Amino acid sequence: MSFVTSKALLENAMKDGYAVGAFNVENMEMVMAVIRAAEEMNSPAILQTTPSTVKYAGLALYHANVKTAALAAKVPIVLHLDHGSSFELAIQAFHTGYTSIMIDGSKEEFEDNIALSKRVADACHTENIPVEAELGKVGGKEDDLVVKGPAYTDPDDAVRFVKETGIDSLAVAIGTAHGIYKGEPKLDMERLSEIRAVVDIPLVLHGASGVPDEAVKETIRRGISKVNFATELRIAYTGGMKEYLKEDPEVFDPKKYGKRSMEAVTNLVKEKMRLLGSENRA
Ligand code: 13P
Repeated sequence: MSFVTSKALLENAMKDGYAVGAFNVENMEMVMAVIRAAEEMNSPAILQTTPSTVKYAGLALYHANVKTAALAAKVPIVLHLDHGSSFELAIQAFHTGYTSIMIDGSKEEFEDNIALSKRVADACHTENIPVEAELGKVGGKEDDLVVKGPAYTDPDDAVRFVKETGIDSLAVAIGTAHGIYKGEPKLDMERLSEIRAVVDIPLVLHGASGVPDEAVKETIRRGISKVNFATELRIAYTGGMKEYLKEDPEVFDPKKYGKRSMEAVTNLVKEKMRLLGSENRA
C-alpha cells in the first residue's frame, strides 16, 4: 500500500490501545520476511536499522530496499533509524528518505539530550518526518553501545523533555535491556503508568526480545504504542540458516537457506504482531 511515516500509525495505536512492532532488519531477506508477515497479518510494520547496520550496507541500500518492497505491499510500512547516534547520522537518514528518525541522546546530560533531540526534531519536522528520542537509559548492549545499569525515566523530566524538544514519540527506560536477559526482567510498570498519565505522545518500549508475553501486554495496557524487537529476529534468521545447513551441508545456493531463514523470521514477526494487537490494523 504505502511507504509512510510513523506519525499516524503510532497515534492510532495510542488511541486504540495496541502497539506497532518495530523490527530491526539487517539484509534484504529480513526486509522481505518482515513485510511478508505484515501482509499476512494485515498489520502495519516499522522496519528499522541501527548505526552498525547502516555501517554494514549504507543508508541508501536499506532505503531503496525497504521503499521498493513497501510500495508493492498491501499494508503501511515505515523505515525508521533506530538509535541515531549523532545529529549528522540522523540528518543523513532524513535526507536519504527514512520516514521516521530516532535520535538517541540518552547518554548525554539531560540538558544536552534536550538540545540535541530538539535540533533533530526541528530539522525533520520541516518535511513532516517524526522523531523519537530517549530519556533515561535502557541497559544492555545495543549496537556498539554498552549501557551499564539502567537509569529509569523520571516522569517529571519526561514532561519537560517532551515539551522542550517537540518530539513525536518517547522511548522510556522502565527496566528492559537490549539483548538476551540472564533472568526474567523486572519492569517498573507503575513508573510507566505515571509517565503515561503526564505525557501526551506515543511511548516506545526498547529491548523487548526475551520479555515474557504477559509483561509486553501489560506495558501496552499501560500505554506503550511501539515495541522494538531485534535480538529475537537475529536468532530466528540465523537459526533457520543453521538448521538448513545441518540438513544439507553440501548446499551452496544462498537462496536455499535464505528461504528457511525468511520463514523463521516471518513466523516470529507474525507471533509478535498478534501479541501487540496490531493484526488487522493496517
Ligand atoms: P532487543 O534486541 O532486546 O529486541 O532490543 C531491540 C531494540 O530495542 C532496538 O532498538
